[in-house]
Amino acid sequence: MAARNQNLVAITWGSSVKFSIVQFFVSLVFAAFLVAAVYMAHEYGTFKIIPVTVDVTFSGNSESECNLFSGKWVFDNKSYPLYKEKECKFMSDQLACNKFGREDLSYQNWRWQPHHCDLPRFNATRLLENLRNKRMVFVGDSLNRGQWVSMVCLLDSSIHDPNMKFMNNSGSNLITFKALGYNASIDFYWEPLLVESNSDDPVNHKLPERIVRSHSIEKHARVWTDADILVFNSYLWWKQPHIKVLWGSFKDENGIYKEVETIRSYELALKTWSEWLEIHVDRTKTRLFFISMSPTHEKAEEWGASSDQNCYSETDLITNDEYSGRGTDSKMMKVVENTINELKTTRGLKVEIINITQLSEYRKEGHPSIYRKQWVPLSEEQVSNPRSYSDCIHWCLPGVPDVWNELLYAYIFQ
Ligand SMILES: *[C@@H]1O[C@H](CO)[C@@H](O)[C@H](O)[C@H]1NC(C)=O
Ligand SMILES: *[C@@H]1O[C@H](CO)[C@@H](O)[C@H](O)[C@H]1NC(C)=O
Ligand SMILES: *[C@@H]1O[C@H](CO)[C@@H](O)[C@H](O)[C@H]1NC(C)=O
Ligand SMILES: *[C@@H]1O[C@H](CO)[C@@H](O)[C@H](O)[C@H]1NC(C)=O
Ligand SMILES: *[C@@H]1O[C@H](CO)[C@@H](O)[C@H](O)[C@H]1NC(C)=O
Repeated sequence: MAARNQNLVAITWGSSVKFSIVQFFVSLVFAAFLVAAVYMAHEYGTFKIIPVTVDVTFSGNSESECNLFSGKWVFDNKSYPLYKEKECKFMSDQLACNKFGREDLSYQNWRWQPHHCDLPRFNATRLLENLRNKRMVFVGDSLNRGQWVSMVCLLDSSIHDPNMKFMNNSGSNLITFKALGYNASIDFYWEPLLVESNSDDPVNHKLPERIVRSHSIEKHARVWTDADILVFNSYLWWKQPHIKVLWGSFKDENGIYKEVETIRSYELALKTWSEWLEIHVDRTKTRLFFISMSPTHEKAEEWGASSDQNCYSETDLITNDEYSGRGTDSKMMKVVENTINELKTTRGLKVEIINITQLSEYRKEGHPSIYRKQWVPLSEEQVSNPRSYSDCIHWCLPGVPDVWNELLYAYIFQ
């Protein structure tokens, strides 16, 4: 616990060994505040000003000075997990690996340590206070839903009165978690390709052929445009050999279908998305985030194990810093970066990228593999070969997505 920054004192004096220029600067700022605080404490007979300096310090530690996404995993079973799987009433059976039989639990015990600074400690009360009378919506696919479940569990662990929380999952695209004591709403909205598609049904979306309406987003977007914090993702659903783009509506018999290269249709969709944001989002109110692609671990030969294996039975991390799986498409990542940069430079609208890709690459042991609910009964053949039905895409909770939320938290308070 002590190693994590709970306050300013830990930042400046707790890690004097690695005293960098940034920290030196930070400590100067702090020294100035301390002088001011002591002075004002004399003036007003109170030290209330001190907590303010915590925020000031963290903004001094901003992304330009410290890349939060570059770092290493440190085993830390004192502070992690941040909540208990069994105690989170809103846990998803898709992600509750321990409940479904996983017994090696060290995947819950890893802390992300950036190279040149520390992540602030996740304080659920502080975030809930920030979200008072606000609405935060995670928009995207099942990976984003996993991150949303993680966020709900992180917040839930600080709300002890069961009457003060409420979940509305009525089977529509929108799932709402409410922290009633704060009038805060933390929602998930299913929209795996960001634009309209034939996979928009939150339950029945596994179709043989993928069709997107790359130019249409309004049907979805009107549900979330008014939010205070929006957290988007969209990647894996585009990893298809063939995607058809539809001009016209699904009901229109004269619609034009055209097979378009994946990267091009992705670009079209992100353009539609960014134009919507530019026109409809209230920039004085809404903060925008995009979660970068989540890596998968489906081919063990990529990390030097045998070719017939995948993430199943993995218990260790990948230690090669440079490691990147072949499923991680840097061209698609570039499309996201370009779209977001253009939105900023030409339209003045800022979307912050939470770059979880590289840090998640190392976590080949963090997936559910066979330890999750099976929606369809397994065949005998599958049972005899667990690798064949292992989920090496999603992430166990508590686990990797909690760290994504710690990064998001750091950005929210930056
Ligand atoms: C934490 O891990 C260490 C080293 O593996 C082990 O000795 C210790 O018992 C663990 N503590 C807890 C609380 O799990
Ligand atoms: C968490 O935040 C709340 C509200 O800002 C604060 O009162 C509390 O001291 C914080 N807890 C920790 C452990 O820092
Ligand atoms: C409660 O939160 C919603 C946003 O989710 C907001 O629109 C509404 O104004 C809030 N209510 C009050 C009484 O502040
Ligand atoms: C739950 O959500 C559905 C649709 O999203 C809505 O129609 C219903 O009124 C909500 N129920 C409650 C109790 O808020
Ligand atoms: C994320 O970080 C990786 C390296 O850590 C970099 O190659 C990539 O361009 C970054 N992606 C985005 C979207 O910023």
